[in-house]
Amino acid sequence: MPDGNPVQPLRIAGLKLENNLVQAPLAGYSSLPFRLLSWLLGRPGLLATEMISANALRQGENSQECYLARSPGEGPVLYQIWGSDPDAVGFAAAMVTERGAAAVDLNCGCPARKVRTAGAGSRLMENPLLVGRLVRAMRANSPLPVSVKIRLGPSADCFNAIEVARVAEAEGADWLTVHGRHARESYGAPCRLDEIAKVAAAVRLPVVGNGDVRDGASAREMFSRAGVAGVMVGRACMGAPWVFGRIQAECAGEVWTPPSLPETGGVILRHHDLLADLLGPERAVRHCRKLGSFYSKSFAGAREFRNRLNFCRTRRELAELIEEYFGFLPSDGWGKTTGRGRVSL
Ligand SMILES: Cc1cc2nc3c(=O)[nH]c(=O)nc-3n(C[C@H](O)[C@H](O)[C@H](O)COP(=O)(O)O)c2cc1C
Repeated sequence: MPDGNPVQPLRIAGLKLENNLVQAPLAGYSSLPFRLLSWLLGRPGLLATEMISANALRQGENSQECYLARSPGEGPVLYQIWGSDPDAVGFAAAMVTERGAAAVDLNCGCPARKVRTAGAGSRLMENPLLVGRLVRAMRANSPLPVSVKIRLGPSADCFNAIEVARVAEAEGADWLTVHGRHARESYGAPCRLDEIAKVAAAVRLPVVGNGDVRDGASAREMFSRAGVAGVMVGRACMGAPWVFGRIQAECAGEVWTPPSLPETGGVILRHHDLLADLLGPERAVRHCRKLGSFYSKSFAGAREFRNRLNFCRTRRELAELIEEYFGFLPSDGWGKTTGRGRVSL
């Protein structure tokens, strides 16, 4: 597709997506407020939760409720599960199905020590047979489309993504997402589009390519070089929930105008308000301290803004600081709002 627009509606296993852009699962970020803003301001075809522990769900831990929260105001949501016990993963698949998931994903890419020690996340790349058992458990416990998010392999000397992909396919997975790095690699290493292409060519399943997509040009490159059916975007949507709109516009050959500073200010405050609804006021302000650094990454006074953000304790202090640095434009022009410029949950 050298000249055509690669951003197209996507149909996977009965799931009709408006487009083939996917917001990545992002632990610590892609909770309901983040997804609502992505949906309203960028409109990707599919949104993803943070990874959710299958064991914690099975143990009935209340702490998991905020990961499960869902709103009719957001688009279709892929719930991502991590774990290595087929019974727990099957239980979790059934539970997220009840909670309104559009599809269920198995995490085979997380490099965090806590997750790897449990034999899950990127450790699963060392054990394709276990991946197969986990997919079978998800398949048996949910009628929803099942996907698996993998990396290229467990380490530099083992590129086994094709083997893992084939096992997942044989056990009934409906699609795969491939992040073009192996499990030991950090973001400093380049994402290998040609390796993603080899996986996409080796299976019949649709493959979603992931790694370093941030605008229309990088999305186009992922589509054309990796030959994928869809593209997943992670870091580029942190502090820029509109990035999916940018990718769609640029892939359609349109000029995209970034939001103004006051518009960005309005979005940060709205993000805070949505977090306050989900987590309560104290945690919302704390969470905004880390979000602020992403929202302010491309503006001149960012460092000072971030330093001062660390001392904010209330919504009022936060709103005053945002007003001072960004100006503030209630986000009426930015998707559906209710009352005082807040998205309806
Ligand atoms: C803060 C952060 C949290 C992440 N959390 C998850 C997660 O919960 N599950 C997952 O599969 N990947 C997770 N990832 C990996 C991303 O989904 C994605 O695969 C990776 O960032 C590469 O895509 P990108 O280059 O578009 O960022 C996380 C990445 C970041 C930066």
